[in-house]
Amino acid sequence: MRLLSTLLFVASSLSGLTTAIPASPPTPYKPPAGHGRNRVSKPVGRHFEIDGKVQYFAGTNCWWLGNLLNDFEVELAISQMADTGYKVVRTWGFFGVNDPTNPGQPTFYQVLNETLYPETGGLGINYGPNGIHRLDVVVSLAEKYNLQLVPTLMNNWNDFGGINIYSAAFGSNATTFYTDKKAQAAYRAYVKFIVNRYKDSPAIFAWELGNEPRCKGCDPSVIYNWAKEISRYIKRLDRKHMVTLGDEGWLCPPQGDGSYAYDCSEGVDFVKNLEIDTLDYGTFHLYPESWGYEYSWGSEWVRQHDAIGKRVGKPVVFEEYGTPINHTQLERPWQVTVVEETQVAADFIWQFGTVLPVEGVKWGDVNSIYYGTEEYEVLGFGHVEEMERKKVRRH
Ligand SMILES: *[C@@H]1O[C@H](CO)[C@@H](O)[C@H](O)[C@H]1NC(C)=O
Ligand SMILES: *[C@@H]1O[C@H](CO)[C@@H](O)[C@H](O)[C@H]1NC(C)=O
Ligand SMILES: *[C@@H]1O[C@H](CO)[C@@H](O)[C@H](O)[C@H]1NC(C)=O
Repeated sequence: MRLLSTLLFVASSLSGLTTAIPASPPTPYKPPAGHGRNRVSKPVGRHFEIDGKVQYFAGTNCWWLGNLLNDFEVELAISQMADTGYKVVRTWGFFGVNDPTNPGQPTFYQVLNETLYPETGGLGINYGPNGIHRLDVVVSLAEKYNLQLVPTLMNNWNDFGGINIYSAAFGSNATTFYTDKKAQAAYRAYVKFIVNRYKDSPAIFAWELGNEPRCKGCDPSVIYNWAKEISRYIKRLDRKHMVTLGDEGWLCPPQGDGSYAYDCSEGVDFVKNLEIDTLDYGTFHLYPESWGYEYSWGSEWVRQHDAIGKRVGKPVVFEEYGTPINHTQLERPWQVTVVEETQVAADFIWQFGTVLPVEGVKWGDVNSIYYGTEEYEVLGFGHVEEMERKKVRRH
């Protein structure tokens, strides 16, 4: 989802961010003892096995966990998601900037700047209090509450450091990013850093290449080749965990009616990408109003991706869905379609919201369903229960 303009959050105090980034890394991240060691989820046919059980499940999105500067607030959000019964949370693992002296955002893990970091191809890691330590806290608390995470490693959108910070550092752009030597070397170095840091954590569900990667006007082979190379690279670093692309599920002819979602214009071919053997499952998103479709078309989009997953024999995850208004009225039919008409393995609503007592600030956006509200009872708790009840049928 691309939403910066509609975000309701107010950034925490930005004071203290002008301190230089410590040059030497502190102690590496280690899962605290007793936090569910050796817990690895895996694909089984069209489903996932979690804790030894092949099951349908509901997850949620919460991109902002790593942006909080206060452990208590991270724990509050994570404990509420765990209380809901969500099994997996998708969250941003990429916060990045070009200029650490003027970051313009509360936290950043990654700095891309060839002047500051000539020896590492322009990649610096922020080991300060508003740096990678914040993601350590998220991972550690996810372990404590028995949640698993899908950390997303790059953003197609400019929010909080996406392809744009690669462009600013290396002179690439939104389409050349996928093939630019320097940009790709820096992206890989970051991927390697993150994967190596957390690969022994029981809180990892899967690694995700990017949030909604697109290559407008490109042949779909550009993203296909990129996804194939990077997913192989991650599998070499970490053979245990799953890898997924994080795309919106765009289709290409002969799928569909040739309208926008099916015309291949974003340079992403869901069917072709699903054939990559180092991608363990497919993802698709749904925002009818911003794509120019009726809300009712959403259920068709869900069924189409389920049918493709069935042909290929892989799990598909309905990884983001949301509406700016009338959440229950408009989104509930999509959940019912998932439960009653498909073998979609899991779905993740966009997104979890809560009120944080310290700042009294709501983190979320117009799409958020806020913990404690009536709509959260239905779209959150109610849906978690129906996904849990749904039986996996072996074919
Ligand atoms: C790199 O960092 C320096 C020093 O903080 C800053 O002046 C410069 O603008 C940064 N480069 C980019 C591309 O942002
Ligand atoms: C990126 O740069 C390439 C090569 O210079 C150009 O063909 C392409 O149109 C640019 N794309 C964008 C999104 O600006
Ligand atoms: C949203 O709900 C309002 C009030 O029930 C209704 O008037 C409106 O038509 C709904 N909008 C959509 C797009 O369903």
